[in-house]
Amino acid sequence: MRNSAGLKQPNILAGPFSFGQVTPVVGGEGLAAAWHHVSSRLPIFPMSDSAVPVLTIDGPSGSGKGTISRTVALHLGWHYLDSGALYRATGLAASWESIDLSDEEAVADCARRVNIRFQPMADGGEPRVVVNGVDATDDLRTETAGGAASAIAALPAVRAALVDLQKGFRQAPGLVADGRDMGTVIFPDASPKVFLTASADERARRRYNQLKDKGVSVTLSGLLGEILARDERDANRAVAPLVPASDAVVIDTTGLGIEAVVRRVLDLLPAR
Ligand code: DC
Repeated sequence: MRNSAGLKQPNILAGPFSFGQVTPVVGGEGLAAAWHHVSSRLPIFPMSDSAVPVLTIDGPSGSGKGTISRTVALHLGWHYLDSGALYRATGLAASWESIDLSDEEAVADCARRVNIRFQPMADGGEPRVVVNGVDATDDLRTETAGGAASAIAALPAVRAALVDLQKGFRQAPGLVADGRDMGTVIFPDASPKVFLTASADERARRRYNQLKDKGVSVTLSGLLGEILARDERDANRAVAPLVPASDAVVIDTTGLGIEAVVRRVLDLLPAR
């Protein structure tokens, strides 16, 4: 179950979002540059540089931030941080060790030890995620992994354990960071900051189509319930709650295609 290497890459999002709709907006340096960075416990770059530009894209699950962030990073030739994957991977690694997910210190210790590597896809799609040497990409995408991530993400010691790892992604020529607290906590000096939203119904529909394409049997109403519960927990936790930064530009992606959102995000950057 853990070794899902070699499984077919599913569509990232269906409905109004489809990766196939994207055409390059900016020349950029292409895949090699955008995906050069590989995260692990021992980053290949020794330290982050506060002079390096960071574009943060925060928002709730299903708002399209993963697809938009990867596309923008690809166009700019910048590095990409999927911070949600770090929480998902930590939750998964903890469950592999049979750690009680409410045991804050034990999960934080696991967060400090876990080795997470991102392996780029040649087409700019979602990278494979290797956790402690195991390709866990498909397990990490499940609602179970999302729920576990959301639960451990509410624990302050776990969040603290992942801060340096996230900051280490800030490497030249630039970083696109996607998550819940990228603009508020991890990269407060980032510019620009984007906060993506979409109606809960549309977010559930996107997730439903995505899972259906993978042959996973789910109901739309069940997914909507899970998404609302996760939003509630992420938005109301005491530490780093899901809120737009005061200087974030909020974009409602309901009914918008990827290309339109990508253009709006790129328009926020200074002319290059
Ligand atoms: O973006 P995602 O769905 O992969 O994130 C999974 C969970 O991780 C999400 O419910 C909340 C948590 N998370 C977080 O608390 N802070 C982040 N920067 C990213 C994710």
